[in-house]
Amino acid sequence: MSTQQLTFTDEVQHETSSIYNKIKDSIPDIEWPFLAPYIYEINKLKKETNSVILAHNYQTPQIFYGVADIVGDSLALAVEASKVKEDNIIMCGVHFMAETAKIMSPDKHVYLPSLKAGCSLAASITGQDVIELKKKHPGVPVVTYVNTSADVKAETDVCCTSANAVKVVESLGVDKVLFLPDEYLAKYVATKTNVEIISWHGKCEVHEKFSEAEIKELRKNYPGLMIIAHPECPPDVIAASDFAGSTSHMVNYVKDKKPKDVFLVTECSMSDNIEIENPDVNFIKPCNLCPHMKSITLSNILDCLQNKKNEILIDSNTLERARGSIEKMVAIGRQD
Ligand code: 13P
Ligand code: SF4
Repeated sequence: MSTQQLTFTDEVQHETSSIYNKIKDSIPDIEWPFLAPYIYEINKLKKETNSVILAHNYQTPQIFYGVADIVGDSLALAVEASKVKEDNIIMCGVHFMAETAKIMSPDKHVYLPSLKAGCSLAASITGQDVIELKKKHPGVPVVTYVNTSADVKAETDVCCTSANAVKVVESLGVDKVLFLPDEYLAKYVATKTNVEIISWHGKCEVHEKFSEAEIKELRKNYPGLMIIAHPECPPDVIAASDFAGSTSHMVNYVKDKKPKDVFLVTECSMSDNIEIENPDVNFIKPCNLCPHMKSITLSNILDCLQNKKNEILIDSNTLERARGSIEKMVAIGRQD
């Protein structure tokens, strides 16, 4: 079937009406007749091909609410990937998330709708870099952020995400760790623990763009504004914010505190997705876009399902070595 044949029939309109009602305030009316046929086809084909769609919190509302079966932060996606029953996993996120799903569910077919969906943090370090670092710091355990390739994870003692980085570092019971590759997350962790942190120079191209000056300006314009930053932000941005946490921490914090005005210092789609569940909260949105996350579209999800495109394959030796580091992270769990 070619995607050109997709039309906004009465059946499509009827079958997608509950999704439309949920996300209608987040998308221009004029776009719905183009989006709905994709949502309808994807949901139909998903069942026919025994596939499940996992989506990160940074995906657009039409993906997050329209076609995803499981949504969450990178820790939740790693955990859920290990439990899926379907034969095929479509990862609406970035490459390291698809690799992590494959590592956690090696018998499943895992697909990434766009191979452009990389990550500046994952690109900042190779497995060989970790080997060199371990030679330089013999005996020092390696903690790596899940935003890394399978090659890097294979050289790692234990992975972490921003939802459990401090807990993972402290779980090791050592004085010193190599914490790779996010320099800003490493700095954030160092403010929360006495463990000495040796870091790398990776940065998230999205979060590094936020500045303390921008936060100060917003505070002037919105008295009482609650500001929640992702720990990938620069240290001065985190210090100027009210709270720092992973994307799921942000979701829960907004739900619990119900602030009048909130600014999420992170990728644009976070505010769009949380706003739908929290209509009484006013989201201030000077956000930055992740081009990698945004390379996933309804059109390439459908293409992926129809043509089994972009399957993620990892050699068995790397996969087995990487799996240990993710399983340890999952066993440690989330921090409050
Ligand atoms: P979370 O683990 O908080 O979902 O973050 C993943 C990510 O890539 C943030 O930029
Ligand atoms: Fe990577 Fe940053 Fe995009 Fe997250 S937001 S996927 S860390 S580039």
